[in-house]
Amino acid sequence: MCGIVGAIAQRNVVPILLQGLQRLEYRGYDSAGLVVVNNQQLQRERSTGRVAKLSAISANISSHLGIAHTRWATHGVPSERNAHPHMSNNLIAVVHNGIIENYEAMRTRLTAQGYVFTSDTDSEVIAHLIHSHYARGNSLLVATQTALSELVGAYAIGVVAADNADQLICARKGSPLLLGVGIEENFIASDVSALLAVTKNVVYLEEGDVAEISLHGYRIFNARGEAVERPLHVSELSNESVELGEYRHYMQKEIHEQPQALADTLEGVCNSQSLIPGIFGAEAAASFAQVKSILILACGTSHHAGLVARYWLEEIAGIPCNVEIASEYRYRVSVANPDTLVVTISQSGETADTLAALNHAKETGHVHTLSICNVPESALVRLSKLRFLTRAGPEIGVASTKAFTTQLAALFLLTLLLAKQRGRLSVQQEQGHLHALRHLPSAAQAVLNLEPEIAKLAERFADKRHALFLGRGLHYPIALEGALKLKEISYIHAEAYPAGELKHGPLALVDKDMPVIAVAPNDALLEKLKSNLQEVRARGGELYVFADAGTRLQPSDGVHIMQMPEHAGYLSPILHTIALQLLAYYVALKKGTDVDKPRNLAKSVTVE
Ligand code: G6P
Repeated sequence: MCGIVGAIAQRNVVPILLQGLQRLEYRGYDSAGLVVVNNQQLQRERSTGRVAKLSAISANISSHLGIAHTRWATHGVPSERNAHPHMSNNLIAVVHNGIIENYEAMRTRLTAQGYVFTSDTDSEVIAHLIHSHYARGNSLLVATQTALSELVGAYAIGVVAADNADQLICARKGSPLLLGVGIEENFIASDVSALLAVTKNVVYLEEGDVAEISLHGYRIFNARGEAVERPLHVSELSNESVELGEYRHYMQKEIHEQPQALADTLEGVCNSQSLIPGIFGAEAAASFAQVKSILILACGTSHHAGLVARYWLEEIAGIPCNVEIASEYRYRVSVANPDTLVVTISQSGETADTLAALNHAKETGHVHTLSICNVPESALVRLSKLRFLTRAGPEIGVASTKAFTTQLAALFLLTLLLAKQRGRLSVQQEQGHLHALRHLPSAAQAVLNLEPEIAKLAERFADKRHALFLGRGLHYPIALEGALKLKEISYIHAEAYPAGELKHGPLALVDKDMPVIAVAPNDALLEKLKSNLQEVRARGGELYVFADAGTRLQPSDGVHIMQMPEHAGYLSPILHTIALQLLAYYVALKKGTDVDKPRNLAKSVTVE
């Protein structure tokens, strides 16, 4: 987490830094700061809270060189003294995203050398360490390279020195960082969205790279200190794509972008007559022919996508599938099976636990790896043999929405390809599924059209303190996702259960103050679910049922029915999710919480 922006230009860079930080706020938003170089001096502003607060106090600063940071606290509470940039002797300033693991030893060593620490962060050691090498006469580049060779951990950093108005140094290992290339001006950022207003030309740094950036150009050195070239990419993102436009929140915008995101993700597939494994990478056909089981690893919402996929993979493709939370798998002693396809799912492609889980899987002997990811140049994509890029576009709201539904679309394609490869998909069945996928964007739009009704329903939740979500089969993970969305953004305690488990414990919680939300598609488990709903009604629980075509449930006293327009068969989880996203959004709106930046959370979790 944490976002970094840096700039060197002939114009004043402060507005560029602040706008960049605003775009990166999704990465962390408990404090923010910037430092600029002016007349051989470092001028720093820091504040707790949002970037808007920093902007207000930085209004009178101007410079052509600076670095800036928005923070999600790991070491040290969110406070001004812990906010970045950190400085050493008013000479060196550093912004850092990541974790320095040997910071305690370094802190002891540097303290013994006379350095005075003014924060509780691990990051401050970087500033003093670079200073210790710079003060011995090394260039800023060499001082940084030497310091980094002594540090253990993950980092993306930006570094400036008070007496060097011509250079900005940056480096990455384990946390993302890219260079933005302009005309007689250059930039650094954690993510391209921060720079879209100034350039679309970007160079992604690779693991261990250190770069020296000036007005006129940049030089990149690999971990061994050798000068290297890295390819220049032109970002396809538009500045508008990361702006709020007509919407009140990014989450609302992103919920509404789902028909387009699904259409974009499925574009190549839906335009063709049949499915080909190549959509997962050149070596997909060979891998798919060898694999006999699937292991899905992911965190948060992406983990829920994996849980849905397990039902599809086992039922349609007949392939055994396990789904594990990445943070558990990475530390579990497990038995590798070389015939297993390890599928990692991640919106960002930089979630530390998911990356570590993939590395762990490889170390234990897995050879077939596939990542489903929304960020093309991410570490996860680079680490995997096969890949599928969801085309959801930038997702800025911390609560994941369009990334999730496009992940589901990708996982459904994977299911169909494996089913086909295993001789379990007739031509007619394949055509039927392709037809359903082509229809998916308009089916999603039809659910979005329920927004006013769902908003009205949500009004009944705002004063509740707890909620129970129920689903069965394919829709149990959707109940989990609905509960996660509600708790993330409205802070209402929500739990999800497979409806059949109700009587084994959670029924004890049910009374008139506990709303029970049921995901009730017209599938094979509907009659069973209806019995479970009776169990709730009999205890005075208030039911909110998300039904779909053919469910035949009637509203009555204490039973509210949200009638979804159609039943989408295997793709029904995607449609039901959209309805639950809207429910969570409108409950949060009613409660007045910060929808896009819920307390204590961050979008990309690059720490353990
Ligand atoms: C954070 C986000 C979640 C997300 C999870 C996994 O917790 O707040 O919305 O689902 O990380 O992120 P990933 O980028 O790996 O999908």
